[in-house]
Amino acid sequence: MLPFLLSLSLLAPAAFIRAPINALPGLPKLKRRQEEIDVANQKAGTSYTIDFEIGTPAQKVTLILDTGSPDLWVNPTCETSGQPEYCASFPVFDYNSSTTIVDLKVADVLSYGKGNVTIEYVTDTVTIGSAVIKKQILGIGFGSHDIPMGILGLSTSVNPDPAASYPYVLDNMATQGLINSRAFSLDLRSVDNPNGAIIFGGVDTGKFIGTLEKLPILDPADTPSGADRYWVTLAGVGLTFPNGSSETGSNSLDIPIFLDSGGTLSRLPTKVFNWIGENIPGAQFDTASGFYIVDCSLASQEGSVDFLFGSKTIQVAWADFIWEIQGVCVVGVLPEDTEPVFGDSFLRAAYVVYDQDNRNLHLAQAANCGSTIVAIKSGKDAVPSSAGECKTTEPPRAASASATASGSPAEITGGGGLPGPAGTGTGTAPVPTGGATGTATGGATAATGTSTSKSGAAPTLGAGLGAMIAFGALGAVNVAAMAM
Ligand SMILES: *[C@@H]1O[C@H](CO)[C@@H](O)[C@H](O)[C@H]1NC(C)=O
Ligand SMILES: *[C@@H]1O[C@H](CO)[C@@H](O)[C@H](O)[C@H]1NC(C)=O
Ligand SMILES: *[C@@H]1O[C@H](CO)[C@@H](O)[C@H](O)[C@H]1NC(C)=O
Repeated sequence: MLPFLLSLSLLAPAAFIRAPINALPGLPKLKRRQEEIDVANQKAGTSYTIDFEIGTPAQKVTLILDTGSPDLWVNPTCETSGQPEYCASFPVFDYNSSTTIVDLKVADVLSYGKGNVTIEYVTDTVTIGSAVIKKQILGIGFGSHDIPMGILGLSTSVNPDPAASYPYVLDNMATQGLINSRAFSLDLRSVDNPNGAIIFGGVDTGKFIGTLEKLPILDPADTPSGADRYWVTLAGVGLTFPNGSSETGSNSLDIPIFLDSGGTLSRLPTKVFNWIGENIPGAQFDTASGFYIVDCSLASQEGSVDFLFGSKTIQVAWADFIWEIQGVCVVGVLPEDTEPVFGDSFLRAAYVVYDQDNRNLHLAQAANCGSTIVAIKSGKDAVPSSAGECKTTEPPRAASASATASGSPAEITGGGGLPGPAGTGTGTAPVPTGGATGTATGGATAATGTSTSKSGAAPTLGAGLGAMIAFGALGAVNVAAMAM
């Protein structure tokens, strides 16, 4: 008996899907309307995209990766996207030429904080590398505002009404046997080191240091928004200085905080915001912009802002936390007492495994020392406890791309037991409300306008497109005020 079971498990397919994520500077962030306290606070920054193929024959589409919303849709309206040329540089999905598309005849409007889209739901085949998802429900956009490309949502349903949800991409990957459980890990990189990846159903132990800390995803009822998102508890904050000494602000915080793959900035409770500002050497609060301003040279020093989760400290290098905006450097955090959020600057420092089945996030300090992908199994302890193989993080600004991350999507095995028509969503229109937060973007092909400033400062708002959008998004008033 035992040997038989053993051999079965040895023969089990790898069951993970690795797909590259592209990083690009400067696209406006999607924010849920409720979170949009001040438009001037919206920032442009690094954004992340992923390429999928949809239809038969397969057509490539580039999608914004968003952990803050659940839906997949394509074909934004470029004329009203706010960035028509950029939007038009991505392929449009020609639904007329897909032989597998089925129109569900259900229309809907998905609203994001900035932007919205009117879609018609269809089902079609979605391909990621060698993985094929059959009958995935997705939206075809027929009119959108302020969104330059389609979106791949990776959250669970954000609508408390169960009737409003339907099988999303991650659900179908699991039910169709492409991965073992609804889990993925996200390895975001900076613009100058764009070899990030998402691994559906797997963990890459070559991308972090030490063990993964398991943190429960908070019950929606215990979160400020009441929406089911990736909320965890922040337990502490501290700073490590270039001379090696460190200072702890608190180790007894109990702050629900939301991880947003698209939000660039972090927004932290006022007391944490102030503590960081008051303790970063030389930082001065600027009332006009609402940021703490620092000397840009700080970004090339080896300090970090340290965040505690359970017993795990994630250190965010000053290089990642300090932002240069039109020649002025600011600490990349704003005060937010209602719905605190960690954006990309934090997520680049953390390797995060999102386990929807067990409702846990697993966090470790991100690093890059090769690639060993371990499949996530199913059941309670599905996420492997394997420690990361890395010993150290990369030094600040060392934009080395030693990544073994081979550009193309890797293997995936496992058959596709087709669950019936994927259309639980038919009739009862999937009604995704309160859409996305994050955004990401990057553009596979659009590696344009990447001239990151070399002033030794942090993630920049680049030149060209980046600067243009940054300017618009940030608000000229703030920038001017800060420059004085
Ligand atoms: C698809 O066909 C319809 C009906 O013929 C047409 O109105 C529409 O413009 C076509 N769409 C594309 C993207 O070609
Ligand atoms: C979509 O956004 C546009 C521009 O902000 C707005 O005029 C329109 O009313 C919105 N549509 C819906 C259905 O929310
Ligand atoms: C290290 O640097 C910090 C910040 O500049 C300073 O407050 C602290 O006194 C220094 N510690 C030592 C041991 O020099």
